Amino acid sequence: MSKAVMYILLTAAFLLLLTLSPRPQKTHNHLPLSRRFGLNHASFDPLVWKAEILKEQATNANSSTPILSSSDNLNVSGAGMGDFNEYLNDAGKLNITLRLFVLFPLLDTSPKDGFADQSELENWNVEQAIDRLFFRTKKHLLSYDQDGDRAVSLKEYLPHLTDEEMEKDGMLHGEAGWWKEQFANADTDRDGTLNFDEFNDFLHPEDSKNKEIQKWLLREKIKQLDSNSDGKLSFEEFRDRAYDTYRNYFEFENGGDDPPSPEEIFAQLDLDKDRVLEADELRSIMRYLYPGEVSYAQYYTKYLIYEADDNKDGKLSLEEMLNHELLFYSTVVQDGKYDYDYDDDYEDLHDEL
Ligand SMILES: *[C@@H]1O[C@H](CO)[C@@H](O)[C@H](O)[C@H]1NC(C)=O
Ligand SMILES: *[C@@H]1O[C@H](CO)[C@@H](O)[C@H](O)[C@H]1NC(C)=O
Ligand SMILES: *[C@@H]1O[C@H](CO)[C@@H](O)[C@H](O)[C@H]1NC(C)=O
Repeated sequence: MSKAVMYILLTAAFLLLLTLSPRPQKTHNHLPLSRRFGLNHASFDPLVWKAEILKEQATNANSSTPILSSSDNLNVSGAGMGDFNEYLNDAGKLNITLRLFVLFPLLDTSPKDGFADQSELENWNVEQAIDRLFFRTKKHLLSYDQDGDRAVSLKEYLPHLTDEEMEKDGMLHGEAGWWKEQFANADTDRDGTLNFDEFNDFLHPEDSKNKEIQKWLLREKIKQLDSNSDGKLSFEEFRDRAYDTYRNYFEFENGGDDPPSPEEIFAQLDLDKDRVLEADELRSIMRYLYPGEVSYAQYYTKYLIYEADDNKDGKLSLEEMLNHELLFYSTVVQDGKYDYDYDDDYEDLHDEL
C-alpha cells in the first residue's frame, strides 16, 4: 500500500473512531461513567479549557471554592492565565498563530532540535489530558463534599438515594449496591470516603490504574456484549460484538496493518483456554473497549502528526504546525471563537439517574 493511501485510510479510520465511539446512550445497561470519545476531549492548548473554567467560575462568583485557584499551575505553558487577554484580538478571538509560537518551545524539549516529534507531542497531549482529569475531579469533589472534609462519602455522592434504597443494596445499574461495589474498589485505604486520588479513579475508571476498578469496568463491558447473560464472552459473542472495535483500533495503532483474525485474537486473549473470556482476560484490550483520556491523547497525537507532517519526516516543525494551525484548534474554534465543551458527560450521568 502506498504511504499516501495509508495516511488517508488512517485519517478516515480515526474520524470513524470518533464518530462511532461510545457516546453515552441513555440505556440502562450502559455505564454512565463512560465518556464521550470525541474531539471535545482533545485540547491541544490548555489555555482554551482553562479559560472555560474561569468563565464558569466568574458566573458563579460567590458560590464555592474556586476550581482554579492561584495555587494551581496557572502558568502552564508559560502562558499565564492572567495574560489570557494578550492572546485575544479585539473581537475576542484567540490568536492561534501567536499561541503556537508560544507553545512550540514548550513541546520541543527533548531534544530541543526545532521539531516536535511523536514522543514530545504525545507527552504534551497526555499531560494535558491528565491535567484536565484532575480539574474535573476537583470540580466534582468540591461540589459533592458537603461536610468539607475534602473527601466524598457514598452518601454525599448519592444524595438522591433513600436510606431504604441504600439498605436494599440493589445490584442493577445505578442502584445502591452497584455503586457501592465500585466505591469500595476505589477506596483503597478503606476509610469509607474517597480522597482526591481515589475519587479521581472512581470518576475516571477508564484512566485508572486500580486493578479492581478496571475489572469492574470490564465486567460491565461483558454485560453489554454477553447475549446469553452467563457473564462471559463466548467466541461468537466476541466475534459479533467486540471484534469490529478491536479491529478499528488495531488498524489505527498499527498504521493500517491487518489485524489478527477473530479466531487468532480470541485464542490469544483466552489465557486459561476454557473457550470463554472473563473480565481479567480482556485487560490487554481494555484501551480499545474503554478508551480513556490518556489513550485518546495518544491517538490524537498520531492524528495531528499524520495531518500536519507535510514532508513526512515523522515530526512537526513550527512551520508545519502554523501551516495547519486550525487543525490544532479545529474542535474548539468555531467562527474563530474558542468554545470548549467542558464536561457535559457528568450532566448526562446525573440525568440518567
Ligand atoms: C451572590 O451573593 C449575593 C448575596 O449573598 C446574592 O444576592 C447574589 O444573588 C449572588 N450571586 C450569584 C451569581 O449567585
Ligand atoms: C506565574 O508566573 C509569574 C510570573 O512569571 C510568577 O511570578 C508566579 O509566581 C507564577 N505562579 C505560579 C503559580 O507558578
Ligand atoms: C496574531 O499574532 C501574530 C504574532 O504575534 C501577529 O503577527 C498577528 O498580527 C496577530 N493576529 C491578529 C489577528 O491579531
